[in-house]
This record gives sequence, structure tokens and C-alpha cells, in this order.
Amino acid sequence: MLVPSSTLTVVRTATELRRAVDSARALGQRVGFVPTMGALHAGHATLIQAAAADLDAVVVSIFVNPTQFNDASDLKNYPRTEALDFEIARQAGATIAFAPSCDEIYPDGFATTVRPGAIAELLEGEHRPGHFDGMATVVARLLGLVRADVAYFGRKDAQQLAIVEQITRDLAIPTEIRGVDTVREDDGLAMSSRNRRLDRAGRRRALAISRGLFAAQRLADGGERSARTLEAAVLGELAVQHLPVDYVSLVDASTFRPVDALDRPCVLAVACHVGDVRLIDNVRLEPALVVA
Ligand code: PAF
Repeated sequence: MLVPSSTLTVVRTATELRRAVDSARALGQRVGFVPTMGALHAGHATLIQAAAADLDAVVVSIFVNPTQFNDASDLKNYPRTEALDFEIARQAGATIAFAPSCDEIYPDGFATTVRPGAIAELLEGEHRPGHFDGMATVVARLLGLVRADVAYFGRKDAQQLAIVEQITRDLAIPTEIRGVDTVREDDGLAMSSRNRRLDRAGRRRALAISRGLFAAQRLADGGERSARTLEAAVLGELAVQHLPVDYVSLVDASTFRPVDALDRPCVLAVACHVGDVRLIDNVRLEPALVVA
């Protein structure tokens, strides 16, 4: 059940955030955290609701992190809807919104970069150089500032989630990471802040992504194991709509290395362009059970 918080405390500095989190803890509350870059949609609301269902206080951060954009126009065009974000966060059950300035996150003298290693060189890492260093650095800093018990990340960004799990493990960050399933529109399109930049025709063409992934999922459920065949199911749908492809790849679900066969838990991941909007999506595939 959706329980809107009666008040959302908006804080802008690390000091104010610390005070708000300390007040929650003084009341014996456990703290959840949903990091976002704003432009909140139903997918974010689902993350916030999951946090509010599990914990007493929920912090939502709203910060468009410049260091994870490798393309200046993507950063410039990233939607910014702060007032609406606060309302969506409150209605979904958030109690604290942390909306810092860039200087608050990267104060004078800030010099550390978190480099997640091999997993960050593949797929998104290959096509968006530096993206995961920027993401991992800001997530490590945000987790340090919020000091939540549990933080929530969407499975639409499956590689990001795997990297966040790795860095919290490696750096002994004492926040549990929970993944939440991708939220889709009724017609299958994965929710994304970038969708609002699609025009009507682009929105229709973008459906090829989920159509292809669902077709591959059906093949896998029917026993298909060849990575090439599963990838071809997606590529075929993208080709019908002439969508330029960055990658369609069946990868190991924990290392994100490409595999030849669906012989372990895998992610079938896609990145492609619909006009000037770059979209990603994925499905998790398991080898079908063979009944003797
Ligand atoms: O997924 C996002 O919105 C961002 O990558 C995150 C996790 C908020 C870090 O800036």
C-alpha cells in the first residue's frame, strides 16, 4: 500500500543531511536510501515504496552527477524537474530529500576517483568511457554521506547494480544493496527519465527494444541456449525500426563478460539509439530446466 509521508524534509548540505538522518536514528528509525538523478518517474517511485515498506525513514537524493556523463549534450539535455520530484518522492513515502549543489558533492580539494575495474570496462563502460568511474565515485560518496541501512537500485541498470554491489563489498561500505525489478509501461517500454525526450514516433519505435528482449526470453524459456540466437532475436526487432545499436549482448550476470551460451544466470543487455535518445534495457535469463 502506498503511504505518502506527511512531510518531506528537503536538505541541501551534508551538514543538514547528517542532522536529519541523526534525528531519525535518535527516534530509533532505520534508514533507507534511494539515489537518483531526479526526473522521477514510476520506476523511482517503486524504489522509494520498496524502501518505505522495509524501513522507517527514506532518504532520496536528487543530484545530476556531471562526472558520469561522457557526452556534454546528454548532461545539458538531462531533464530537471525538482519541484515535481519532491512531490513524487513524498507521495511514494520518502521522508528526506537530499538535493545538493555540485560544490556540496565535490567540494574544493575533492580528488578521489573510485575505479571499479574490469566489470566497468564492458558494455556501458566501453561505450561511455569514464561513466562508471563517475557513477561509482558519486555513489560511494552518497553512501558515505547518508549512512543508510539499505540502499535501493533498479535492475534496469543491471551493470550499475553489479558495480555498486562490488564497490560496497570491496570498500566495506556498511549499507546493504537491494535490487528492484525494472518497472515497465503497459506496452513493455522500460521506464526511464530519458523516455520523456522521445517524440510520439520515437516512443513507438522504442518498443522494439522490449519486444526483442521478450522474444529472446520466450526462446530461452523454450530451451534455446545459443547466445547468437538470443541476441539475433533482439537485433531483428531493432533492425525493423532501423535503431542504431551500441550493443546487444548476452553476458554473465555477475561479471558482465560475454558468453557463448546460456549455461548460467545471464543478462541479455541492449543499448541503442532512438533519434538522439540513447536507451538501455535488459532481461535476466536463466538456463531452462531440462526435465528428464
Ligand atoms: O542511476 C542513477 O540515476 C545514477 O547513476 C545514480 C545511481 C543516482 C548515481 O548518480
